[in-house]
Amino acid sequence: MNTKLSVNINKIATLRNARGGNIPDVLLAALLITEYGADGITVHPRPDERHIRYADVRDLKRKLTTELNIEGNPKEKAFVELVLETKPAQVTLVPDASGQLTSDHGWDTVAHQGYLTEIIAVFKRAGIRTSIFVDAKTEMVEGAYQAGADRIELYTEAYARAASPHRAEAIAPFIVAAKRASELGLGINAGHDLSLENLRYFAKSIPNLLEVSIGHALISDALYFGLEQTVHLYKEQLQF
Ligand code: PXP
Repeated sequence: MNTKLSVNINKIATLRNARGGNIPDVLLAALLITEYGADGITVHPRPDERHIRYADVRDLKRKLTTELNIEGNPKEKAFVELVLETKPAQVTLVPDASGQLTSDHGWDTVAHQGYLTEIIAVFKRAGIRTSIFVDAKTEMVEGAYQAGADRIELYTEAYARAASPHRAEAIAPFIVAAKRASELGLGINAGHDLSLENLRYFAKSIPNLLEVSIGHALISDALYFGLEQTVHLYKEQLQF
């Protein structure tokens, strides 16, 4: 199965924002990443616009030829409006608080079932594929299904943090969660802390993995290897 690589470009925007101006050019970087073989671009706009700005998302949607995946918390009204306006291929719902450094937990799809069902219906009516960021737990996968999601995104930090001798142990709950998702007909995405070091084992172990979304490690690797070579290296990890 050919797992797609969606590159999260938030870190490129962080670098640009450090100085003002337009260096590096986020849109150009996204177009090059696509040209080098990535299957999609992910952005995670936050209300304070400290990384990707809402204007970037609009530009990206206009110019990109590959899938755009917008991640974020739909409890922010401005986020929902942006998604409905730009109509990306996919929206990934993430329960992060506005000042949070990065996402650090999945949705509790059982406790928030009613809310998630309502908001997913809003995106579905607009024809946008909807994915929910969840921990690798069967009940959270089942809750995502009940809420009407098209896909789940497995939150991979717990796997990625496990040193290689403990990998088999760390990936076990992800395999169980992925199998349940497939039984229910949910598509499977994954992301967070995936890297050249841990990606191949993950992709090989998870059946029906449709897409990985990778930012921090990939953009950092681009400092050493260059953007083109780095995209190729990550794509290679997904071919076996
Ligand atoms: N998936 C989600 C929901 C995220 O919030 C992030 C980080 O913004 C990622 C994937 C990508 O994680 P990383 O930057 O560690 O590759």
